[in-house]
This record gives sequence, C-alpha cells and structure tokens, in this order.
Amino acid sequence: MLNTQLANTELFQQAAFIDGAFVQAASCKNIEVRNPANDELIGFVPNCDAHETRQAIDSAQQAQKHWAKRAAIERANILLNWYDLIMSAQEDLACLLTAEQGKPLPEARGEIAYGASFIRWFAEECRRASGQIIPTFQNDKRLLVMRQPIGVVGAITPWNFPNAMITRKVAPALAAGCAVVLKPAAQTPYSALALAVLAQQAGLPAGLFSVVTGDAAPIGNELTSNPIVRKLTFTGSTAVGAKLYAACAPTIKKVSLELGGNAPFIVFDDADIDAAVEGGLIAKFRNNGQTCVCANRIYVQAGIYDAFLQKLTARLAKEKTGNGFEAGVAFGPLIDQAALEKVEEHIADAVAKGAKVELGGKRHQLGGTFFEPTVLSNSLDTMLIAREETFGPVAPIFRFESEEEVIKRANDSEYGLASYFYSKDLARCFRVSEALDYGMVGVNSGIISTEVAPFGGVKLSGIGREGASTGLEEFEELKYVCMGGI
Ligand code: SIN
Repeated sequence: MLNTQLANTELFQQAAFIDGAFVQAASCKNIEVRNPANDELIGFVPNCDAHETRQAIDSAQQAQKHWAKRAAIERANILLNWYDLIMSAQEDLACLLTAEQGKPLPEARGEIAYGASFIRWFAEECRRASGQIIPTFQNDKRLLVMRQPIGVVGAITPWNFPNAMITRKVAPALAAGCAVVLKPAAQTPYSALALAVLAQQAGLPAGLFSVVTGDAAPIGNELTSNPIVRKLTFTGSTAVGAKLYAACAPTIKKVSLELGGNAPFIVFDDADIDAAVEGGLIAKFRNNGQTCVCANRIYVQAGIYDAFLQKLTARLAKEKTGNGFEAGVAFGPLIDQAALEKVEEHIADAVAKGAKVELGGKRHQLGGTFFEPTVLSNSLDTMLIAREETFGPVAPIFRFESEEEVIKRANDSEYGLASYFYSKDLARCFRVSEALDYGMVGVNSGIISTEVAPFGGVKLSGIGREGASTGLEEFEELKYVCMGGI
C-alpha cells in the first residue's frame, strides 16, 4: 500500500543497511511494522542482533579512518547533497513518517524540514571547527589544541520523531568526522532506512552510516559494550537512559542522553492571554502530546485562570483527531496501547483527587489508540499527572497566586528539560528565565526547537546538548599538543 503512495518506491526499504548494503538478518527473523492509526501491516524489517551490530561497528571503524582525513569542505559537500536530496523527497519521507508514526501529514512534512535543517547546519559548522593556540607557559614551547573526531558512534533513537532525532545525532557526528551505527525505534524503522538510501545517493561512503533494525536489547548491549564504539547518543526515557549510561561505564564511553521531561508552562496575570493559549496549544499538543518538551503542567495565575481555561478549551474543541493522512486532522493516534493506558491512568488519578474534565477525557470514538484532546481544571501538585510525564493529549491546568510560589512549584521536579512562561513584564522575563531549573526556557513562545540553539536538559532529563555550534563538540575529543624546542 505504501508503495503506491510514494513517488520514489526505492525509499521504502524492508532491510537493514550495513556497510553500504541492504541486508537481511542472519537469523532470518523479521519484525512487523504497523500503522498506529489503523493497525494495518506496513511491512517487515530484519530482527538483527549482536552479529549484525558487530558487522556494522567493524565497517564503521574502517570507514571512519578515511572519513576523518577528508577535508571539512568535502564532508560538508556530501552533507549538503544529502540535505538537498531529503528536501526533494520531502513528500515521500513525510508519507513514510505518517504511516509508521501516525502524526498528521503537514506535521510530518514539518519534521522532514526540521530534520534536514540539522544536516545543513552541521555541514556549515564543520568548516568552522577551529582548534586553539594557547599562550605558552615556557618560551621554548608552543601549545596547540586540536579538535578530532571521537571515532565510532552508537545512536539509539525514538519513535516520536523518526526522522529529526536521527539527523540531529548523525549530522554532527558525520560532520565531525565520525561514523555512526544507528538503532532506530522498532516502531519506526522506515524513516531511518529512507535516510540511509538518500545518504548513499548523496555520496556518503559505505560503513559511515549503518542502520541496524530489530529489538533493543541485543543491539543496545553490543553498542554499549563494544570497545570500538567511543560515544553513545540516545534519546528516550530516563529509565532506559540510566541503564545505557551504566552499560557504557566499563568501556568509559562519552555519552549524550536526551531523556524525559515534565515541562511547566506558566501564564502570568500580565500575559497576552490569546498568545498564551496559542503557545499552550503547540507546547502541549504538538505530536499529540508525545514530545519530551511537551508542556506537562500548565500553571495559570488566579486573575486570568477562568479566562485562560475557557479560551483554551474552546480553541481545542475545534481541532480534529483522525488518521494523519486525512485533510484537516490536527491530532493523530497515540503510538500504542501502553501509551493510551498511561493517559487513562493519569486522568483517572486526577479526577479521583478532584480534577474536573472540561473537555475530552476518554478514548476517541474512532477506537484504536485514538484519544480525545483533554483539558482538566482544578489540577493539583499531588496528582500523578503533575509528577510524571503523561506523553499524551492531556492539558492539566493548575492555579497559582504569586511568582515566588509558581517558581518553587515549577522547579519541584526531578526533570529539567523544557519550561515555558508567558509575561509582558521584561524584568520578570529575565528573573523567571534565570530562576527556572531547566535546560531550555520558552518565553512568550510555545515552540523552542531549532537547529541553531542547544537542545538538552539538566537533572534526570539528561546530559549533553544537541544542535547549535556546541553540538559538534559532543562528537569530538580535544587533543593537546605541547611542542618543545622552539
Ligand atoms: C523530543 O521530543 O525529544 C524532541 C522534540 C523536539 O526536537 O522538539
């Protein structure tokens, strides 16, 4: 069925991509990939294990030695070719993404452009990866610092952004002169494989970017334990991130972990309420609430609580839920049954503790994993929904009185990824930005993600930053050279 929708059917590969070739697993085992909107079978991919992962790591090691020696402009040119090919195939890539992930087609198109932006950015950045000459400590010595690629990188990516979370890791790694072995989410391997097709067409040499499909445990174990892999980069849950971090310890790998969040979204009395409603909608309901930076707790100051609640509910009621391929759909399905059950558990707990359902609150009549966009008023900090990431379309609204109080409540979380607030008071904008214990703060903006700024969190939300000029450094080592006898 997907084949008939794609202009270029070559992009739909049902095989792993190792050392520049599409291959099946030696075990001949496959896993199914289904469309979360209707549970239709899209296709199969090989269930690779440690054997294929090792092959990919070994070929990455060979390829990386040559790649690291290429001039930065040569690496940049190949990355720019890749960028162009992705943007030319935007419609097909969006189609694959919607089929396997469920997000509406316009949102999928946006993700392809967002994902491609990392490739262009790091193609540009790698030409400016200058080292340093340090003022010497002795007259006959000269001190240099070189920036060198770390080597072979293992990357493990999630299902919520099947394209952009890959390019955000692979582009800086390749730009820095590294090779990458990628394990995409089992639910969404086709976006990763399509990226591999286009990388090969762009002129990327074999072995530099392999895609190993299959179950997480055997592939993850090999990526974390193999000493050839010098860096692991992961986006996903804090629980899995902590396990990977521990597994990387014996071989002392560098790690970047982009983990869970519990973002506060604060609306002060002095805010532009309409702008805050629009910002709240995007911050909360982007990808149907399934992003790590989604607003999880919406705090509204007492003076505008009722007005904000009424406007947000009315605005949300106009949005359509459905199959991402249908015109006018704003919200797709949740990824699976477990996601649906977590949303239900959070709502049931909130209602039992006194929350009022203002909109939605139950499974959608479409069935499957569709859920009604939901607004809860009278939300309290003691509710599960305030402590854990819901990862679904539920907006719990909390009331607060003062700035001091809301900062304390917003910071009362073990997570520290994204945070947001709305205010027209400039002094407050600085004060609150500085006071929030989060890696990212959106001020009068519900969307903060861009390739040019550092994305990442503090506390249980992770280690390291992606994007920005510093994103390249995550894939480099510094080498200090002390030249004597001068
Ligand atoms: C994520 O959910 O991990 C990424 C979201 C983004 O890049 O905006």
